[in-house]
Amino acid sequence: MKLTFFGHSAFQIESNGTTLLFDPFISDNPHTEGVVTADDLEPDYLFLTHAHADHWGDTVSIAKRTGAQLVANFEIVTYAQEQGVENVQPMNTGGGWDFPFGRVFQTYARHSSSFPDGTYGGNPNGYIVHIEDKCIYNLGDTSPFAEMAWYGEEHDIDLALMPVGDCFTMDAAGAVRAADMLTPRQIVPMHYDTFPFIEIDMDECKQTFKRGGFSLKPLAPGESLEL
Ligand code: NI
Ligand code: MN
Repeated sequence: MKLTFFGHSAFQIESNGTTLLFDPFISDNPHTEGVVTADDLEPDYLFLTHAHADHWGDTVSIAKRTGAQLVANFEIVTYAQEQGVENVQPMNTGGGWDFPFGRVFQTYARHSSSFPDGTYGGNPNGYIVHIEDKCIYNLGDTSPFAEMAWYGEEHDIDLALMPVGDCFTMDAAGAVRAADMLTPRQIVPMHYDTFPFIEIDMDECKQTFKRGGFSLKPLAPGESLEL
């Protein structure tokens, strides 16, 4: 299985011929320049954590071109359907669904969610994805919250994708607190260095994780991790 980072919160998982794309903010993402364009991507599934522009991104164009199934909360799926996206799987916080590739659990995320035009986007979410024999938790935009301890107990998490950019989400110290509850084997950071508000010192961020007993694996845009 291969996980690829496209910068910000855009990730792709490729497993046994199935491609999952998360938060496809590609065209307006400064990290994707020379790395990837929205037209290069051929996902089978599109997962949205919430409706903010830096996550919603190219969802409609990719979904329409590829026919990929859009997986998101009810409000996001409904909004996409109004824009002509036909293949959808609605979920909501706390629910799970059995996909052909494995079971996905939609988590809580402590954030907000509205579309660029102001339409309400429902509650923000994260995803715990069971695929092959692995468990990957994409936290979405969030701060730590106490129920993460339950997720840590209920899921044997191999990899956590964690926001660390501060300002709009938790910072490295908050992410370490989350990691204490989730106990993932590996952590890849996201949601940093895209805009001035979330520019961070990655060496300092790594040190914070190290002091907390975790090692952080930052990926460059376009870089992949084999799982
Ligand atoms: Ni957001
Ligand atoms: Mn965001």
